[in-house]
Amino acid sequence: MILPFLEKQKEEMRLFLEKQKITLPFFKKQKEKTRGPVLKLDLHSHFIPGIDDGSQSIEESLTLLRGMEALGYEKVITTPHIMIDVYRNTPKIIKEGLLTLQEAAKAEGIQLEIEAGAEYYLDEGFYDHLHSGEVMSIKNKYLLFETSYISKPIQVEEMIFEIGAAGYIPLMAHPERYRYVTDPLKEYSRFKELGVLFQVDLNSIGGYYGKSAKKNVDFLSKHGMIDFLGSDTHHKRHLESLSDVFMSDAYADIFTNNKIRNDELI
Ligand SMILES: [Fe+2]
Repeated sequence: MILPFLEKQKEEMRLFLEKQKITLPFFKKQKEKTRGPVLKLDLHSHFIPGIDDGSQSIEESLTLLRGMEALGYEKVITTPHIMIDVYRNTPKIIKEGLLTLQEAAKAEGIQLEIEAGAEYYLDEGFYDHLHSGEVMSIKNKYLLFETSYISKPIQVEEMIFEIGAAGYIPLMAHPERYRYVTDPLKEYSRFKELGVLFQVDLNSIGGYYGKSAKKNVDFLSKHGMIDFLGSDTHHKRHLESLSDVFMSDAYADIFTNNKIRNDELI
């Protein structure tokens, strides 16, 4: 009775080892091929429902937050647009929306820590926001701003200076996506001279925003100019393509060439 049992075990072991020979190198290869560190903090997204072009309902927001959790994030600082022509958000609107979102997430058992800042558009209303007495900054330290994609604002340097004078570090959202950057070395270097930090959109790394944005990310990465990485999540498609980005060599390379500061904000 003992021998057949041993034979069976031996056979199981043989099959197990045979399987390992096939699967082990495969996993090893995947591991070698992939990812830099797992990002725990995200500082650019549009999760507060109904106040900009991001999530349009609390259900959609909860789906997106669950997706962020699944990707390994532990904390998000969500950043609704503040734009004079389209999204006339105020600190009051953002804070109320944040509270609703935090309560809904808690009720759903979502563990993510959720805070809010804003993504300021450099337009004619910007100075009023900056001097209104309440700025939706990130950790009371960084002011996340964007500009038109097409043309560089004439007063961009003055505005950047004013951000510093108000006590914040200017943090440019997705520098790789501005089509007015035609001479990357000259123009990105100038922003750096002015004390601007750069937050690159993760999806630009995978080519989601086109060849030009991808090329600019490669340039910024190679020159060690990237400071933060953001998801800039507006909807589910953004999250779906993020998992591919995290598996890419280009993503891993960023951590070799740049000092990524996301963890500083946890
Ligand atoms: Fe954004």
